[in-house]
Amino acid sequence: METTIIIDSLNRNFKGKSPSEKLRYFLDVYQGKIGLSSSFGAEDQVLTDMVLKIDNTTRIFTLDTGRLHPETYDVMDATNLKYNKKIEVYFPDTLSIQELYKTQGINGHYESIEKRKNCCSVRKIEPLQRALKGLDVWITGLRSNQSVTRAEMPFVEYDNNFKVIKVNPLIDWTENDVWNYIKENNVPYNKLHDQGFPSIGCAPCTRAVKDGEDVRSGRWWWEHPEHKECGLHKK
Ligand code: ADX
Ligand code: SF4
Repeated sequence: METTIIIDSLNRNFKGKSPSEKLRYFLDVYQGKIGLSSSFGAEDQVLTDMVLKIDNTTRIFTLDTGRLHPETYDVMDATNLKYNKKIEVYFPDTLSIQELYKTQGINGHYESIEKRKNCCSVRKIEPLQRALKGLDVWITGLRSNQSVTRAEMPFVEYDNNFKVIKVNPLIDWTENDVWNYIKENNVPYNKLHDQGFPSIGCAPCTRAVKDGEDVRSGRWWWEHPEHKECGLHKK
């Protein structure tokens, strides 16, 4: 109850403030207990730049599902180099991944939503639980106009699944805002963005989209839009 009141007032007080102002507050109050999760997509690259300009000791971690594009590893490398920082990497648990392979093969995720969710669970959810251990605040690059499933997401919320305060500093930003920041600040970005990939996840579950198509239509393109969350960001 108390948490809800605090979160509501944070959402009110920070209305209209810039992502950097929002980040500065959380990085200061939760120093050592706050981390940014990065998939190396455009939004996360913006946040990495903002966060490290405020406090270069802030934890930044990625979930390496084992199915990422080569271009994602390239931008990981370029980011580590530019900011002189080794972004933490969390891998799936070895035994669970071997078991997943035994039960549904390497590409079982195409066969049913259940199998797709099993794969996301082993490759993303469990590693995220490990990454968030000991943190009070989780920073993400979610934007409300990315999809129908994200339209109602606020700047700050309590995440009941992972039991942390979740902060989405770019929630009100448009895709244009993101790209303007990247260009103005010379931020490294995933080269797949230049090849028609506005949203980038695992290689087998991401494809390029055509001009005018929804930004997440290339993610799990064989599923209906309302199913297109892997469990990292479900309500
Ligand atoms: S997803 O749930 O569909 O995969 P999306 O790619 O839109 O999410 O990214 C939204 C936010 O989730 C990112 O800004 C990032 O904070 C987090 N995220 C997604 N994938 C990863 C990953 N592989 N490693 C770390 N964080 C991730
Ligand atoms: Fe598996 Fe695809 Fe989910 Fe990646 S996005 S964890 S490959 S189902």
